[in-house]
Parts: sequence; structure tokens; C-alpha cells
Amino acid sequence: MDELRSFVGFGPGDAARLAALAPHCEPDIEPLVERFYETIRRHPEAAALLGDEQRVGRLRRSLADWLRTLLRGPHDEQYLLRRTAIGRRHVEIGMPPRYMALAMGVLRQGLAESARRRLAAQGAQAVAASVAAIDKVCDIELAIMLESYREAYAAALREREQLAALAQLSAAISHEVKNPLGVIASSAFALRELLGETLPDALARHLERIERNVHRAHRAVTALLDFARSRRPRLVRAELNELVRETCSELVAGPRVELVLELAERLPQLELDPVLIERVIDNLVRNALEAVAARGGRVQVRTRAEPGAVVLEVDDDGPGLAAEAKQRLFEPLFTTKPVGTGLGLVLARSIAEQHRGSLTAEDRPGGGARFRLRLPLGGVQAAAAGPPAAGDAGSPGGGGAPGRGASRGEGRP
Ligand code: HEM
Repeated sequence: MDELRSFVGFGPGDAARLAALAPHCEPDIEPLVERFYETIRRHPEAAALLGDEQRVGRLRRSLADWLRTLLRGPHDEQYLLRRTAIGRRHVEIGMPPRYMALAMGVLRQGLAESARRRLAAQGAQAVAASVAAIDKVCDIELAIMLESYREAYAAALREREQLAALAQLSAAISHEVKNPLGVIASSAFALRELLGETLPDALARHLERIERNVHRAHRAVTALLDFARSRRPRLVRAELNELVRETCSELVAGPRVELVLELAERLPQLELDPVLIERVIDNLVRNALEAVAARGGRVQVRTRAEPGAVVLEVDDDGPGLAAEAKQRLFEPLFTTKPVGTGLGLVLARSIAEQHRGSLTAEDRPGGGARFRLRLPLGGVQAAAAGPPAAGDAGSPGGGGAPGRGASRGEGRP
């Protein structure tokens, strides 16, 4: 903070001027927040980042608070620390960095106008000194925001490169293991055929174990291959409900397990990659069915339209998510399943983000877990130019950020 302050010549006099200005500017804070949003809304690519009304509401409060603390200070190390969260958050939502500079201009101008109006009676000198202090503090803010953005972006990029390496490794392992597995399975089959009726009980039990475990290993290998093969979305116009119906019709709910679809009527069409989105739906519903399999229960799959997006929720009334699982759910290789690769949810989130959407997990009210896939209506161009999939080891594409853990992927861990 010392370096930033000294670079722009922000001294105690500037801090005092801003603090004195704060009560005068208070009536202009909410209108300035409003102007900030109006400006963003006039630019579709920026507006698409705002998300649902809940998020906009949070953002309005954060921004008003940001403006107040910018004036009041104190501009100390704590202040710096709190401000670094903003750049990180902007990386998470995939914001191209130019919007930070542009939006800072809007805020800087709004604050300066407010100072000119409210301090007019104190004379030109007082106004000029306050406007200069506003300029300096906005420069500091922009520097903090861009620096923390750069750091978070680099971290996300590293994570993506690690995932790309993991994808290559997954491909190599699965190819190596797939053939021997095939040989074991066909030899087991041949033994059964050869021995026919004469198959002794003890041998039959061993053959069964071999076959069961080959099947498990095969599923794990297939999940690894799915992860390794993740690709850029090939977008077509499609309706989410159709994909949900199709995917769920192929899933078998076990005994005492109920799979219920509650699909909204007339959902807007989306531009999406049906193969990839079906993979996400399959993953979420399969996980939910597994979560309730042991004790029986209910899995609900819901769709609905929200402003600017279509949402899919998969609820189960199983044991829910343990605290550690909640933290690490989307980390590669984290799994709580006896047989799981820990890549399914990583891949699922990666696919959501490739569509400029999001995949989140939370507790279901009343017990169990809820997974929410959100796909924005306006996400097409951004998705097409977005970051590479886990399988691509390329450099950051388009104008966007790498996004939160740009690639994620099998089943609830
Ligand atoms: C330079 C001007 C900007 C400032 C001062 C600013 C400030 C903030 C603050 C304080 C937060 C909350 C950070 C946290 O989670 O602790 C935030 C988050 C966010 N910002 Fe910005 N922002 C700016 C520009 C923008 C622009 C231009 C957009 C959209 C195009 C935007 C979209 C968002 C979104 C979507 C969030 C996440 C909100 C949430 O989910 O809680 N911001 N920003």
C-alpha cells in the first residue's frame, strides 16, 4: 500500500479530503451505483456477466459499500487485503480485464461530478483538491484490482495446465489398461464357456469376482477417457428439457429409489453442445441416484427459466455433503466413492464453464444435496471464444478470463 500511495502521491491530506467529502457525496452513492449498472447493461457482453437478480443485488450492495469505504478509508493494509478479493472475483466470473478500466472511469467521473456539485460553495480550490484526491484513489484501486486479477488469472491458468496434463495422463493410462481389461474379460467368458455345466462352485465364485471387478475397472477407465476427451463445445440450438428426458430415460433408479422430473413448460432454447450437456446431466443424476441407493430415497430433477438463463437442479434426499466434500467437491481426483476417479464433477463444471454457465453444489433444504447447473441465454459467443477444455493445452483464448478452475470432472466424489 505504501508503494501505491507514494506512486500517485496520495498523502494524509488526500485521505482527509476524501473522508470530509464522504457525507456530502452520500446522496449520490445510490444514483452512481445505478448509473454503473445502466452502463454495463447497455453493453451485452458485459451485461451477460451480471447474472441473475440475486447476484446483481449482492453486487449493488458491494459496490455502494466499496464507494463509501473508498472515501472514508482508512487506506491501510487491511483495506488493500479486502480490495484484492475483487480482482479474484472478477476472474471467477470470467470478466475480460478491459471492463475494470472502463467501469473505473464511470465511477471516477461520477465521484468527481458529485464533488464538484456538493463542494461548489467551498470554492474552486477545494473542489480541485478533492477531485485530485479522487483521481489518485481511483488509480490505486485500479492498480490493486488489476494486480489481483493478474495473480488470480495466472493461478487459474496453472490449474488449467495441470488439468490438461492430467487429461493426457488419463488418456495414456486408460489406453494402457483398456486392452488388458478386455483380455481378462474375454478369458473369463471363455472359461465359463469351456467348463459349462462342469464349472465347480468355488471357481464360479472366483469368476464372478473377476467379472465384477473388471466391470468396475472398466467404468473407471471410461470415466478417465471421458475426462481426457473433453473438447470445445459444438453449439447447436436445443431445449434443455429434451436432453433431461433423454438422459434420464437411460438411467435406472434402484429399488426404493424414486426419480422425479419436474420440467418447466416452454423453456427458451439454448445454444449448447448436447453431447457435453447430456454428460453433465448424466453425471449429476447418476450421482444423486447413487447417493440415495443404499437407504432408498427420492431424486428430483427440475428445470426453470430465470432472467437471462435456464437452470437445472438435481436434488437428492440422501446423506448430504460432508463439510470436507463441500469444500473439495470440484477438485480433480477428490473422491469419496469406493470406486471413483474424482474427475466427473471436474469435467461437469468445466463443461458448464465452457458454456459460460456455472455448476454449484449446496445443501438441500430438508436434508440431502442440491446441484445447480446454470446456462446463460447470451453465453454463446463467449463460450465459442472461451478457454480451452481440459484436454486442450492451449493458451487462454478469446478476451475472457480462464474462469474458476477452468476445468473440473466423474461424479460426486
Ligand atoms: C471498476 C469497477 C468495479 C468495481 C469497483 C467492482 C467491485 C466489485 C466488488 C466490491 C465485488 C464483490 C467482491 C467480493 O466478492 O468480495 C464485485 C464482484 C462482482 N463484480 Fe465487480 N466491480 C467493478 C466492475 C465490474 C464490472 C464492469 C462488472 C460486469 C461487467 C462486474 C461484475 C461483478 C460480478 C458479477 C461480481 C460477483 C458478484 C457476486 O456474485 O457476489 N464488476 N465487484
